Parts: sequence; structure tokens; C-alpha cells
Amino acid sequence: EAELYSLYKGVYLPAALHPPTSLSFYQHFTFRSDDILIATYPKSGTTWTQEIIPLIISGGDAASVETLPNWDRVPWLEESRASLLKLEERPSPRMFTTHFHYNMMPESFFQVRPKVIYVMRNPKDVFTSAYHYYGITSFLVKPGSQKEFLHKFLDGKVIFGSWFDHVKGWLNADYKENILYVSYEEMIKDLQGSVSRMAEFLNKPLDVEVMEKIAERCSFKNMKQNDMSNYSLVPSEFMDQTKSAFLRKGIAGDWKNLLTAEETEHFDAVYKEKMKA
Ligand code: PPS
Repeated sequence: EAELYSLYKGVYLPAALHPPTSLSFYQHFTFRSDDILIATYPKSGTTWTQEIIPLIISGGDAASVETLPNWDRVPWLEESRASLLKLEERPSPRMFTTHFHYNMMPESFFQVRPKVIYVMRNPKDVFTSAYHYYGITSFLVKPGSQKEFLHKFLDGKVIFGSWFDHVKGWLNADYKENILYVSYEEMIKDLQGSVSRMAEFLNKPLDVEVMEKIAERCSFKNMKQNDMSNYSLVPSEFMDQTKSAFLRKGIAGDWKNLLTAEETEHFDAVYKEKMKA
């Protein structure tokens, strides 16, 4: 762990993706008031939202989702690529992603208050998705047994720290009028409804047919076939998708196929305790 992870503001980060220069780049980053930021705890619907938002902004034009990998289309500001992308030259509205906690955001964020779409997901499904994902990536510490990984997850000894702290931090943000809270589960139930909610929040009213088209493009099946979004561009030595695909199952409630009754009970008890305050 000492080798693969670095500790930054109390949370583990995969060191390979976040050298000190990138973290410093983000800390000094200057937001514009019309920037759009997708904020998520990992495995909560990031890639999905990176597909939806550009389509909303382009009014349904698929050029960017067909030609730009998601990490260039809606780049993570804390990743090493961000400083290479000449973000200051991008036209408004710029679109970014972050896995940072609310209290890790740079000074400019609190001054400028760009729009944020915070996507959250049932933590048991986040755990389930992460358990598979950690098993296929060479830049993350192997999950170990399911039991071990469950303890690490509940203790926040995983990348980007504790799910509980992440969600509580963003839910308790001040100036909530600039934050739209969306759940993975609502997107599963009614994707077009979520697209509509996001479009309204971004002041980008769209015709029903356009929203229908966007929802169709962003279905699990279609995104799995989009090489710009399915991580097939990542060499297999970093991510071995023959073991488990990045776009793995794309459902709500898969935790029921993984967690034992005992683990579920423990998870619920920890949830109750941590979400109390
Ligand atoms: S990451 O690594 O933080 O960027 O991962 P993230 O994209 O947040 O989460 C990956 C999970 O999201 C699922 N996903 C989708 N579900 C339904 N529909 C669509 N279109 C979609 N796109 C991505 C993906 O399959 C991962 O969940 P699991 O449960 O592992 O399938």
C-alpha cells in the first residue's frame, strides 16, 4: 500500500494517477462560474454522467462522446492529465470531474461556486462494484478477500477515503442551490427523467425527443459498445477487463449477489452509526 497509494488530506489516492504536481495544479485551479463539475465517490456513476452531461450541453450532438475518451471529454481535475489539456483554453461551459471530498476542494471552488452534479449510489453496490474493479487494476491494491475488503471499505482505507465522509460532506455543503443531487438508482429507474432534471439544472431546456435520444445513447448496452467510454483504450496491463468489465453489470442491487447475511447486517449497523451525525 505504501507504494501504490499516497496519503493526501487524510485519504488514499492511487499515486500513479495523482503525482504531487497534479494535486498542486488542482489546488491552484481557477474555476469559471459557468463550469460544470461532476462530483462522485468512485463507482457511483461517474462514467455514466460523463456521457450524459456533454450530450445535454451539445443538445444531443454525439460528436464529443464518439471521438473523445471520457477522461478528456470531462477530465478529472486531480489527475495528471488535467495539466496537459490546456483547460484554460476550453470554451464555456467547461465540464470536469472530481472524486474529491467537499472539504478537499480548492479555494477557487468556494469563491466561484460552479455548478456541481453530485451523483451518489447505494454504498453496498459501490462496494460490490469496487470489489470487482480493484481486482482488475494494477494501480490499486488488490482487494484481498471479500471480508478484508469490506473492512477496508467501511474504514475508508480505500482510494478517496470513506464513502460515508464523502457523501456527508457533499450533502452538507453550503450554497446547495449550485448543487444537483442525483442518485444512481433514480437513473436506473428513469434515465430520461434524470436527463431532464440535469438539463433543467444546467439551464439547457431540451425537446422530449432529444432527451429520449440521449437516454437511449446512455443506456448500459450502448455505452458498453462505445470505445470512448468503456475503458477499452486502457492497456490490459493496467486494467484487465477479461476478468471483469469496467462496465460490469450496471444494475441496482447487485450487492445481494455478493454480501452474506452477516456482512449485510454489519454493513447496515456501520451505516446507521456513521450516517447518524
Ligand atoms: S469510476 O471508476 O469511479 O469512474 O467508476 P464509475 O463510473 O463511477 O462507476 C462504474 C459503475 O457504473 C456503472 N455504469 C452504468 N450503469 C448503468 N448504466 C450505465 N450506462 C452505466 N455506465 C456505467 C458500471 O457498470 C459500474 O457499476 P457495476 O455495478 O460495477 O456494473
